[in-house]
Amino acid sequence: MTADHRRLRVALLGAGAVGSQVAALLLQHGDELADRAGATLDLVGIAVRDVDAPRDADLPRDLLTTDADELIVSADIVIELMGGIEPAKTQLLQAINAGADVVTANKALLATHGPELFEAADRVGAEVYYEAAAAGAIPIIRPLRDSLAGDRVRRIMGIVNGTTNYILDRMDLEGAEFADVLAEAQALGYAEADPTADVEGFDAAQKAAILASLAFHTAVPLDAVHREGITSIDKGMIETARRAGFVIKLLAVCERLTDPENGVESISVRVYPALVSREHPLASVHGANNAVFVEAEAAGDLMFYGAGAGGVQTASAVLGDVVSAARRHIAGGVGVGESTHANLPLAPVGHVVTRYQITLEVDDRPGVLAIVAGLLSDGGVSIATVEQTVHGGGVAHLVIGTHRAQEQNLSDTVDRLAASDVVERVVSVLRVEGD
Ligand code: HSE
Repeated sequence: MTADHRRLRVALLGAGAVGSQVAALLLQHGDELADRAGATLDLVGIAVRDVDAPRDADLPRDLLTTDADELIVSADIVIELMGGIEPAKTQLLQAINAGADVVTANKALLATHGPELFEAADRVGAEVYYEAAAAGAIPIIRPLRDSLAGDRVRRIMGIVNGTTNYILDRMDLEGAEFADVLAEAQALGYAEADPTADVEGFDAAQKAAILASLAFHTAVPLDAVHREGITSIDKGMIETARRAGFVIKLLAVCERLTDPENGVESISVRVYPALVSREHPLASVHGANNAVFVEAEAAGDLMFYGAGAGGVQTASAVLGDVVSAARRHIAGGVGVGESTHANLPLAPVGHVVTRYQITLEVDDRPGVLAIVAGLLSDGGVSIATVEQTVHGGGVAHLVIGTHRAQEQNLSDTVDRLAASDVVERVVSVLRVEGD
């Protein structure tokens, strides 16, 4: 059966890697999608900057237009896949105010202006769908928003950036240096010519803000996300991690913190390279794949794994949203708004409590270990393991694994270690996540 009794007008803004695949699949699987959606989805036009630009998929030329406004005013569903803040934001608001439901994969826009879009949708009873905005093809937005709505999420640890996972994985597998793997990834087109958004953690931070907002029913502004990238990771750190049973992953960690003294809850959202036990499921995420590990109070541990990018893969998530939007449109009623009822305070990274691995280059002479141990003890940081490797020339490396410590104490202690006469250099400080 085809659902030709109902027709919905679908406008697409953007025909890049994802947009062109969305259009192609909408046209190719129109009958099947109509049956699932309960309405025929008429792709009425595709707004692009340049109708003559080369596309990843063959699209009917008569659907291409440079006039987005004309498409938006008459659409039931608007799909925004242009990326960037403007004109995406203005056009999505225009679509919402004209009564359309909107589908977007625009993580930068959601992480910076999400509340504005959600409020606009609430005002008119429309809905914003964004399954493709975090972790590409992996269903994670709906699981957090709907499937886990009856549970309490304790922590999310996500590998949500494929480029950095690819680089760190190659460094781990081949003992390669960061700069060499990055250059090769760029030559092969896996990494962008300007890799800043990926390697400095900006992309992961946007996704972390989106996931944390959903998981903790709290609007999380992007500037509340603590962010560190992977450019300082070298093959020595990877090797040290390996010897201690860890792999280094760029993680987006979204965590519910509870003050042990008064039980007051807050949330911490952070992106940094972290040590993950080789036994942890996230350690098995190789190449450019993504995975989101969710720890919930009742459900326990869940892991969502798959392609975090790619045109056709991400198009799958977008089309799922289009079908949901169509069903809602047919059913009528107001859209489901974003839940920010908990409105938990955002904790600074100094409040985080976790384990750490500190690598120090020290003078190899009597009493040095005792001085280092004393400084850690004075800082309230308890030592779990110590490994010393002698490097010759009177220099040794101490790799210290700590018990759980508060980040602020740890960082103050590392400052005191760095200032100590016996420490030549703080080689690295990495957090351990996933215990
Ligand atoms: N550049 C991102 C990544 C994909 O490497 O995962 C889009 O978010």
